[in-house]
Amino acid sequence: MLTNDSHKSVPESVLKEDQQVQEPSSGRGRRHGTSRIEPFDRWFRYPAGFASDYASLLLHQLQLPAGGLVVDPFTGSGVTGTAARRAGHSFFGVEAHPLIAELAALKLRCFSGDPIELLVTARELTQQARATVHVDLGGEADLTLRSFDPETLALLVSLRDLIRAEHEHEWHKYLKWALLATLRDVASVRVGWPYQRPGAQRQPTFSDPGSRFLQRVAWMVDDIGDVEKNESASLECRVKQGDSGVAENWSDVGIGSAHGCVTSPPYLNNFDYADATRLELYFWGDVTSWSQMCSEVRSDMLTATTQQSSVGAALDARKSLQKYGEVGDQIGELADQLQKERGNRARGKEYDRVLPDYFVAIYRILENLAHALAPGAPAVFLVGDSAPYGVYVDTPGIMAKLGTQLGFVLEKDVILRHRGQRWKGNATRHNVQLAERFVLLRRE
Ligand SMILES: C[S@@+](CC[C@H](N)C(=O)[O-])C[C@H]1O[C@@H](n2cnc3c(N)ncnc32)[C@H](O)[C@@H]1O
Repeated sequence: MLTNDSHKSVPESVLKEDQQVQEPSSGRGRRHGTSRIEPFDRWFRYPAGFASDYASLLLHQLQLPAGGLVVDPFTGSGVTGTAARRAGHSFFGVEAHPLIAELAALKLRCFSGDPIELLVTARELTQQARATVHVDLGGEADLTLRSFDPETLALLVSLRDLIRAEHEHEWHKYLKWALLATLRDVASVRVGWPYQRPGAQRQPTFSDPGSRFLQRVAWMVDDIGDVEKNESASLECRVKQGDSGVAENWSDVGIGSAHGCVTSPPYLNNFDYADATRLELYFWGDVTSWSQMCSEVRSDMLTATTQQSSVGAALDARKSLQKYGEVGDQIGELADQLQKERGNRARGKEYDRVLPDYFVAIYRILENLAHALAPGAPAVFLVGDSAPYGVYVDTPGIMAKLGTQLGFVLEKDVILRHRGQRWKGNATRHNVQLAERFVLLRRE
């Protein structure tokens, strides 16, 4: 239950503890992010908002029609998608991060061959990689060089080059992802989420990259095999890489044809999804510089971090806010407070520029979602609030207000868990009790 006065803008009537809605941590190997053990989630651990067993629970509670279409405008690694397929639904998702969109699409595609072939190929390539005598590490990125001991890195690079060389094969992307997910398992520096810290040494969780890679391929084979065995293999599941705020990216979904949405947008907490995957991006060679990461990986993402913000975009967004009436004024006032707080600090961060841009993007995305959903269809958002420089931003509440302008009705807004406890007692941080909330909007 919220107690802090600064939460007053949240509609009290919908803020009640609700036994029907459970915490996203299902108790099966996770508190936050994708699960280490759930099928498909275990392919790569991504900061996800929820794991697929939780998404399954939600989809079950929403009582969507059998075979109905589930959508997710922030698809990430495809947790909602795999849960939807398991429950017998079709799926359409949009994801801005190119590498992560590739992963989601891979999980949701139909594997046309015998999945065991994957394991056979992986074993052959691992043997070849182990037999390689000289591996040239000269062209590797600094982050890659600093993250592994030389012997481990030589085997990783050797495997990568063998996989990359066979990019026209069906198995190529599976083996690529098994290898990318192995990186954090065998690194000898701190590579946990959200930041990779090549300066901080640690004992690798697994010592042999070859056997860990094969273990990961074996999981994939099991997970793909399970889908092939049941009817869900024939369901249509698609992932579009791009910005879900752009209407054309939804052109595969007919107006009013989707039956439900389960999603988790980026929170306003300065978490950078591009930077968080720097290790994988640099290792595979998708990006070689920070500027390339900004231009190629971040370009379709909504602005949720100060690093993405700009004066011009913030000014444009402030103009758009004028169209949103009272809630636009509320966002504008929060941005003014944040600007004041920034001015009080020697090197204050530009949260005041992030905020308008973020909510204008959310508005566009909700607009596209409203077009896609059938009348009466539910849309669940798992989203946290935030308090940069102590200014409380009720992100879930503001999202709900924006939604009501676009033909949604707010049906439920419940606290799932309190968060931000690690800043407790830190005088430079906010002292507001933050929460992750479950917001259920319904299409009128
Ligand atoms: C909390 S994560 C969602 C994780 C997801 N539930 C999963 O299964 O992994 C939010 C995602 O939104 C993506 N994103 C940010 N802006 C976007 C946009 N404008 N369009 C589509 N995706 C976006 C981010 O790249 C990130 O992967």
